[in-house]
Amino acid sequence: MYTPYKHEPLTDFSIEKNRKDFEAALEKVNGLMGKDYDLVIDGERISTEQKIVSINPANKEEVVGRVSKANKDLAEKAMEAASESFKTWRNWDPEARAGILFRAAAITRRRKHEFSALLVKEAGKPWKEADADTAEAIDFMEYYARQMIELAKGKPVQSREGERNQYVYQPSGVAVVIPPWNFAFAIMAGTTVAPIVTGNTVLLKPASATPVVAAWFVDVLEQAGLPKGVVNFIPGSGAEVGDYLVDHPKTALITFTGSRDVGLRIFGRAAVVQPGQKHLKRVIAEMGGKDTVVVDKDADLELAAQSIFASAFGFAGQKCSAGSRAVVHEDVYDQVLNRVVEITKAAVTGNPESYETYMGPVIDQASFNKIMEYIEIGKQEGRIVAGGNGDNSKGYFIEPTIIADLDPNGRIQQEEIFGPVVGFSKFKTFDEGLEIANNTEYGLTGALISNNREHIERAKREFHVGNLYFNRNCTGAIVGYQPFGGFNMSGTDSKAGGPDYLALHMQAKTISEML
Ligand code: NAD
Ligand code: ALA
Repeated sequence: MYTPYKHEPLTDFSIEKNRKDFEAALEKVNGLMGKDYDLVIDGERISTEQKIVSINPANKEEVVGRVSKANKDLAEKAMEAASESFKTWRNWDPEARAGILFRAAAITRRRKHEFSALLVKEAGKPWKEADADTAEAIDFMEYYARQMIELAKGKPVQSREGERNQYVYQPSGVAVVIPPWNFAFAIMAGTTVAPIVTGNTVLLKPASATPVVAAWFVDVLEQAGLPKGVVNFIPGSGAEVGDYLVDHPKTALITFTGSRDVGLRIFGRAAVVQPGQKHLKRVIAEMGGKDTVVVDKDADLELAAQSIFASAFGFAGQKCSAGSRAVVHEDVYDQVLNRVVEITKAAVTGNPESYETYMGPVIDQASFNKIMEYIEIGKQEGRIVAGGNGDNSKGYFIEPTIIADLDPNGRIQQEEIFGPVVGFSKFKTFDEGLEIANNTEYGLTGALISNNREHIERAKREFHVGNLYFNRNCTGAIVGYQPFGGFNMSGTDSKAGGPDYLALHMQAKTISEML
């Protein structure tokens, strides 16, 4: 018997011992900077001349690691390895496959601060954000392992007299796993272990900004006993290796998390049946967001301000779930805006290695440029009331920025900025507030801060997002508690960390026998 699933507790850094432990982990990880990492294909470690260089976004001079880079030939070799190992891995007892996830979770838990310290370095995450990312990775392993054990029993169907009907799930084949950099551990690990626990084999192409944490995780899976060839680690260019594997006739499943544009490209390409392909590819695509915190007239205004701040600026707004739009009733608009400005100006920003830092850098030069361009647009479309400046001399730092008095249909309130920028718009009636909340092409998360029961009930029906929250921030979904995924251009609503997720990686089979 397994203990019931419970999410991994977050570390309380107000306790001195925890702070000291984390500092020790940071020191250890400091000593591991700049190392080389190999590709892993069929258990063989391969070093290539071409490398992806992962750098610390808070300090451009610091190389986190150099990771070997796959080309099409190596991607093909990995595909052959994954296809071959599928023949045996698919027949493993599901409980034994789950056992590998339990062991990998235990190994990760023992090295929890070390992994989080690496995320501080590689993704620029402040301590709390890094700790939550690692905890979520552990949660995915613990949760999916238990879910698999249940799923292996099949689902009940009826049988008539003289027949026996069964409804069971079988693995699909080779899965191409393409995660983003922003939950560099959690989403990468979650989207890798879901296909493997369900009996598929994997080609893992990590995000180019954060390949080192993925290399560490591949080592953990190996230590946990994963047979060779089940996960093949092939960092590489999205355009070259990504397109090649998406198009490959042997690809059965693609599990992508990232931007809308790349997601749509993958969705389109995967639909094209290639010569020699005898099946339809399945695509899980979780994409961007333009998420809204709505503040009602009779809300707790301090809670509203804190919720807007946390939704907008946690991990510098680089979450698909980030509340980048605050839509506030006109009667309380000035009060809420002023309080969010006050909280924001008091927030400590800078080096994420320091415990006090609430917000660190953005991920790279391209993000820095894009966000600064949006801030310029914001100056035309509205009024900057906090922040507005960036400094990329040492790392990619941008001040938490608030833009007030925006047209809800303007670019700042419609496009995913993916940085520390929140736009404020006002509404007169609750109908209008809901209409604005639903007026983007996305539909990932949203929050309503309200004490009006009727409005809360209406929002349950009419606020069209995959993850809806009341009287709290709109980020931080927990595996097994708040399954995560969005509507519309936010993706296929596959609900990672939810009870239906694993079945998406499998084929349901009906078996009927006459007795
Ligand atoms: P991205 O789309 O730029 O990259 C995501 C992954 O796709 C990377 O591994 C990248 O190398 C790969 N890629 C790029 N081109 C490719 C191609 N042609 N074929 C195959 N793969 C290709 O996104 P990002 O910048 O890494 O992440 C940020 C985006 O992810 C934001 O839009 C954010 O909202 C979204 N996101 C969504 C969720 C969710 O659950 N909905 C979660 C996290 C992030
Ligand atoms: N699961 C992450 C969140 O909810 C993306 O913030």
